[in-house]
Amino acid sequence: METGQRDSFGSRFGVIAAAAGSAIGLGNIWRFPYVLGENGGGIFLLIYLLLVAMVGIPVMLSEFTIGRSTQRNPYGAFRRLAPEKPWFLVGLMGIVAAFMILAFYTVVAGWTLEYLYQAVINGFRGLSSDEINVMFDHFRAGTFRPILWFLIFMFMTAWIVVSGIRKGIEKYTKVLMPFLFVLILVMDVRAVTLPGAMEGLKFLFRPDFSKVSAETILEALGQGFFSLSIGMGTLITYGSYINKKERLGNAALNVTIADTLIAVLAGIAIFPAVFAFGIEPGAGTGLVFKTLPLIFQEMPGGYIFSVIFFLLLAIAALTSTISVLEVIVAFFSEELNITRRAATLLATAAVAILGIFAAGSWGWFAGMHVKNQNFFGILDFTTANILLPLGGFFIVIFVGWFMGTDRVRAELTNRGEIKAAYMPVFVFLVRFVAPLAIALVFMNGLGWI
Ligand code: TRP
Repeated sequence: METGQRDSFGSRFGVIAAAAGSAIGLGNIWRFPYVLGENGGGIFLLIYLLLVAMVGIPVMLSEFTIGRSTQRNPYGAFRRLAPEKPWFLVGLMGIVAAFMILAFYTVVAGWTLEYLYQAVINGFRGLSSDEINVMFDHFRAGTFRPILWFLIFMFMTAWIVVSGIRKGIEKYTKVLMPFLFVLILVMDVRAVTLPGAMEGLKFLFRPDFSKVSAETILEALGQGFFSLSIGMGTLITYGSYINKKERLGNAALNVTIADTLIAVLAGIAIFPAVFAFGIEPGAGTGLVFKTLPLIFQEMPGGYIFSVIFFLLLAIAALTSTISVLEVIVAFFSEELNITRRAATLLATAAVAILGIFAAGSWGWFAGMHVKNQNFFGILDFTTANILLPLGGFFIVIFVGWFMGTDRVRAELTNRGEIKAAYMPVFVFLVRFVAPLAIALVFMNGLGWI
């Protein structure tokens, strides 16, 4: 589709807000605490931070570079940069990952709507920690509610994506993300002043080196990719909407810092409460949903804070789901030459089918198991810990070894118009450090070496 002006972000803040909107989401507030809780606490955080700096930033900048230089969806981008070569497979893998991620991520987004609803009707009021536990497990094992909320969320996502980039995605993210940040800070203050908060902070910040395992490191890598929205072409797609005048290096750095900050702040809100209320840190996917309502009960104005919080959480999830759906829609509309509307409809229908199974993973389809993982767990693990690192590996290899330093430099400096003093460091990272780190962590984590 070569017709007319390609849709693009309208302002610098809009770019950062949209990319940060993609990155910041349930990955930070729901997934980060639960994965950290299952993987030894502080040691996980330490490895996570190292991997984000060494691997995350180079992959993100590589994606922006590929996207902006080709103005294409991930599949089309590789086709354009390396015609007749099999690199387009990396793009295709990203599209497949997008389907899988949306299918389980939107399910959790649906849970946030249920919790928003419960907050509004004051459904947590006066419940004990045990009762809050039961409430979550009961809801999730239900037949219709998780599926219904999932479908509603899918519909909301599709509705925004149909409206396009500037009038849809950018408009919403720009206003709402700063709010979320402030509210998490408020919750942090409450959490660290709970009696017994210290235990939680120790768990989060004090690395216990005896708890490192190959699996922990792979989980940290997977979480880093997931949280930064990298490894499947979301940021190739967003990069394709970024104006040539923007400094991509700055954008990547700012987005990474913002994303990491929110994850750590979420941890500071959650873990003191986990210990103060005697919740198991390794409680898994329900962790946040079992902890937050208890914090709100302990806050003056808890009712109103809980309503605002779950609203913002749902919105943070929405700015992420739209970025994933956008990848599939850009692919369909550009490669099949169909309208944005038709592409959105097609993509949404396909994801909805897959997602119904994920939403019912504790209910209708609870019987579907592979190695004690349900369908939801399989989608979560496979995408974050396998498909994203694999995609990220090929993306940095491509930018480091195949795209050509001149082309990369031209893109990062806008053909010499702006400075990119970090170029040598970036080239070193994408050629050697990032691919090696990913390969080692990956093979080690899967037990291959
Ligand atoms: N990063 C988002 C979050 O943390 C989720 C997300 C959006 C994502 N786009 C992605 C994850 C692409 C992996 C790949 O909530």
